Amino acid sequence: MDTGVKDKTVLVTGGSAGIGAATAVAYGREGARVALTYRSREDAAEQVVKRIEQAGGEAMAVRMDLEAHETVPAAVTAVEERWGGIDVLIANAVRWGTIPPGALRFEEVPIQEWQAALHANVVGNALLATTVLPGMRERRFGRIVFVSSAVAEEGLPGPGPYGTAKMALYGLTRSLAWEAGGDGILVNAVSVGLTLTDVERPVTTGVFDTIAARTPSKRLSTAEDVASLIVFLGSAANRNVTGEIVREGSATARSIHFT
Ligand SMILES: NC(=O)c1ccc[n+]([C@@H]2O[C@H](COP(=O)([O-])OP(=O)(O)OC[C@H]3O[C@@H](n4cnc5c(N)ncnc54)[C@H](OP(=O)(O)O)[C@@H]3O)[C@@H](O)[C@H]2O)c1
Repeated sequence: MDTGVKDKTVLVTGGSAGIGAATAVAYGREGARVALTYRSREDAAEQVVKRIEQAGGEAMAVRMDLEAHETVPAAVTAVEERWGGIDVLIANAVRWGTIPPGALRFEEVPIQEWQAALHANVVGNALLATTVLPGMRERRFGRIVFVSSAVAEEGLPGPGPYGTAKMALYGLTRSLAWEAGGDGILVNAVSVGLTLTDVERPVTTGVFDTIAARTPSKRLSTAEDVASLIVFLGSAANRNVTGEIVREGSATARSIHFT
């Protein structure tokens, strides 16, 4: 299938690791110009750039911190100055949170943690979309994919602020789809379940097996599996899917609860 992203400019946030890195590499393979963001691991981001370039693609890395809102338009400007407008936005970066699951009861979570989670993961992503939207409208083409989590719908004791912020991305997706659809801009969200990326390494193999067993396909996804869905939704091959929340991998499981 021709994804139609050759020579399109794609911005993948959180592209220095995990699902974002796999997505950036997958877009590079499709012939897109790929800008990927990192927050602190510049070296890791440059490694991803190198992988894309070594495979014959074009890529650049730029710093962006969803917690520091001034870095959001600055990152977009850096990409536009090099390549012109952004055609595809993959809002994948995440502020995970500072409180380990189960460490505190709901009522013990400081209000500052709620504010930080929503400030970064909701307002930061809304600002990102707001920044790229005028250019997409002008060119009458755009694709936006928000990367959410099964935790949003399923819940999980512990990461209340994270799950709440991820649920808000669905509201953002639905509203934007209606707002921008008439200008050729399609907006979707991907609900990601427990995925085999570096971040989940501390989770025991037993938990992996339990969750995989509850999944219709009986296996967990890799970052590359998730990336292939993101690339489709965020491509010209996606001709008219918009406002959808697409569940992937263990997000399709009966229950992701560990306990
Ligand atoms: N992995 C899973 O099992 C899983 C499950 C459900 C949902 N998801 C969702 O999938 C997406 C990717 O997850 P992942 O596991 O691939 O993540 P990851 O490996 O931890 O990578 C996170 C990325 O976000 C960047 N980042 C961290 N804090 C940031 C901030 N405050 N502002 C901007 N960027 C920031 C990191 O940059 P640095 O490298 O510079 O730190 C990195 O590029 C996330 O939206 C996550 O919620 C993942």
